[in-house]
Amino acid sequence: MKKPIRLGLIGCGGIVQITHARAYRALTDTVQVTALADVVPENLQKVGDLFNVPTENRYTDYREMLEHAAIDVVTIATPHSLHAEQVTEAANAGVAVISEKPMATTLEEADTIMEAVRRNGVPYTVVHNYIFTAGMRAAMTELDALGESHFGRSIGMGLKPADFSADHPTPAFAWRASKAKGGGCIIDTSYHEIYSVCTLMRSPVRYVEARVQTLRLDIDVDDIAMLLCEHENGGITTVSGAWCVPGTDSGWCEMHAENGSLRVQHRHNVANALRRFTRADGWQQLDLTGFDEAEQQDASGHVRYFTETFNALAADTVLPVPAEKAYHNLAIIEAARKATTERRAIEIQSP
Ligand SMILES: NC(=O)c1ccc[n+]([C@@H]2O[C@H](COP(=O)([O-])OP(=O)(O)OC[C@H]3O[C@@H](n4cnc5c(N)ncnc54)[C@H](O)[C@@H]3O)[C@@H](O)[C@H]2O)c1
Repeated sequence: MKKPIRLGLIGCGGIVQITHARAYRALTDTVQVTALADVVPENLQKVGDLFNVPTENRYTDYREMLEHAAIDVVTIATPHSLHAEQVTEAANAGVAVISEKPMATTLEEADTIMEAVRRNGVPYTVVHNYIFTAGMRAAMTELDALGESHFGRSIGMGLKPADFSADHPTPAFAWRASKAKGGGCIIDTSYHEIYSVCTLMRSPVRYVEARVQTLRLDIDVDDIAMLLCEHENGGITTVSGAWCVPGTDSGWCEMHAENGSLRVQHRHNVANALRRFTRADGWQQLDLTGFDEAEQQDASGHVRYFTETFNALAADTVLPVPAEKAYHNLAIIEAARKATTERRAIEIQSP
């Protein structure tokens, strides 16, 4: 039997403790959490104890972990402004990299990542977990039959706390509200809505018009993002995201095509995760019981994403969500910001 992949974690905060940990526990035959790095000792201890990581393999400086720990791959789950530097250092250390979204905060940073990954020949992937939920997986099997897409919509609205600001006592809130840390509604929240609807549209975006602004909250990053995207096949998509609007009828994406439509409800019980429309049958709830119980419980899609990623690493095959996909998502975000300041449609940049 093959030895488990030795995994080092860079960042042991909320998403790791709540969600990634569930995936690693489900994959103990394939992957072993071997080393950890975090600047907050309590987070190191919490996650270290969860996976019985020896004390000498718990680091407050991720560079020391890269230098001294025997690891094959790292996951990066830190504030956005750190991703480019940490991915580059990990690639230079010769380990595979699984990065939480977004790839980076700007395309300039993303270019440095692409260059480091290419130069060092290491596998690299970004967590686009929503496309691994049961609802999205089932939706993707319907796309061929539905034909050419012409219209997409995606919505993710919510209210952040009234005192949500860069000096919020909860670190996960504070960095999300900080421009210097790479926060903001579009890059943190709408990020998922963009790649989800683009996956259903099956055509890259070529132009973006948008308003990405701070309307309500006392923060130096955007709290609302409205995008109008034109795809290469001529189709149009709108994406709406907000941190200053209550989340009614929110967290879904839909795609309309020549033979019918799909609507996926994110982070939902599978019983109402996917609906399909055809002229013959009207709107119908699709049965997702073909997914096993573990997958049905995987509302964020992380467990399936990590399963496919570690299986691909073990088999030395292509990883899901390559750099180019994450780059395209970031290019849409950067174009939306530029469209706001220049008040015109912006052409999408390729790596
Ligand atoms: N895919 C999803 O659905 C999803 C959901 C939530 C968060 N995320 C992503 O996960 C990442 C982390 O988010 P979070 O909610 O866990 O934030 P968090 O603030 O809870 O955790 C971040 C962790 O990084 C640590 N950290 C900060 N600086 C560091 C450094 N220099 N070296 C090592 N560790 C350092 C912090 O101490 C903290 O433990 C972000 O990229 C975020 O966008 C993704």
